[in-house]
Amino acid sequence: MLSGKTILVGITGGIAAYKICGLIRMYKRANANVLVVCTPNAMNFVTRLTLQNLSQNEVAVEEFDVKDFKPEHISYADQADIMVIAPATANTISKIAQGICDNLLTSIACAFTKPVIVAPAMNCNMWENPILQENLNKLHYEILEPDSGYLACGYEGKGRLCSIEKIFDKTVELLTYKPLSGKKIVITSGGTIEDIDPVRYISNYSSGKMGLALADTAKNLGAEVTLITTKNVSRKYNVIKVKSALDMKSAVEKEFENSDCIIMAAAVADYRVKEISPQKMKKTSEDEVTLTLVKNPDILKNLCSKKKKSCPPALLPSEPLIVGFCAESENLIENAKEKIRKKGCDFLIANDISRKDIGFSSDYNEVTILDKNGGMKKLERADKMTIAKQIFKEIYG
Ligand code: C5P
Repeated sequence: MLSGKTILVGITGGIAAYKICGLIRMYKRANANVLVVCTPNAMNFVTRLTLQNLSQNEVAVEEFDVKDFKPEHISYADQADIMVIAPATANTISKIAQGICDNLLTSIACAFTKPVIVAPAMNCNMWENPILQENLNKLHYEILEPDSGYLACGYEGKGRLCSIEKIFDKTVELLTYKPLSGKKIVITSGGTIEDIDPVRYISNYSSGKMGLALADTAKNLGAEVTLITTKNVSRKYNVIKVKSALDMKSAVEKEFENSDCIIMAAAVADYRVKEISPQKMKKTSEDEVTLTLVKNPDILKNLCSKKKKSCPPALLPSEPLIVGFCAESENLIENAKEKIRKKGCDFLIANDISRKDIGFSSDYNEVTILDKNGGMKKLERADKMTIAKQIFKEIYG
């Protein structure tokens, strides 16, 4: 199943390290080449000899134990098709999230450009620590959350390493399941920023997380991805940073011609300030000031009409697929039905922004997908990566 693939297993210093011996055996049975890198702390839990025998490769721990002309962290990062960090301790997760490279494993992670799976395992209080959660959120990796149950430290709670079968299945999925390969997918994300003057602006609460999850997922599924975003995003795929709705419009239109699918997850401002003051506006003696706003172009609607114009209905190709988002605080489905009709897109993803547990800023979402033929499918509340995967499944079948 995995022949021709090289898996880099990164083991950190937690008691669940012993379980990774079983995982390495599963990879070997599936014919993968397995390289193992351990943090120095991990060596307190498993022996080099065990890992060496199971992986049939030397085990790397020391950063400066250079065997050939290449620095070891780069050489490992180049050789492997995927990196699997399991168990991942709170310490290593936080270091990688902060870009710290103080041992071979963290240095490799920093240099690694291909998919990474992280399977955390730790005490339940460590897992719930907001600093750890914040660091985990920074990682754009596939996170396999720990299970709940009896923990080695004697506590009951969330923190047990997920099953090695789950890690194995995720590895196979990421290495072999590439249904979007050959497709060029453009995704927008974040709220646009409309300047008032050099220090003030109008924007909205969009965090850009749903668009980012869609872009990361499309990449994992083999697509060539362009993310057009108002947020600071660092990824190995093409990221175009924009600010206003007008900037976003020109970036999207440039990409439109050669794309197979455009997903407009951005919260584009409907209006912008008519005249941006070149200097900071001064406080006056007046109690009220009036800002005149003018309508922004509807990027999504324009794209849909371009697609229709360029191809007569009879010859209408299935691509580029155009997918819009619809964020509503009331009457979600009625508004969404009206919007898909008005905009003319192929799919519309409707989400309820009145709920605090999903949507804007949350890591979770619950959406309903509408298609242009009147079909509707509700995706139950899940993390945004899972929702993103389900969206691609729905739009590409
Ligand atoms: O019209 P409304 O803003 O509710 O529609 C939301 C959808 O339209 C989103 O996909 C958003 O990215 C897109 N949109 C756009 N241009 C605008 C406003 C919204 O492309 N000016």
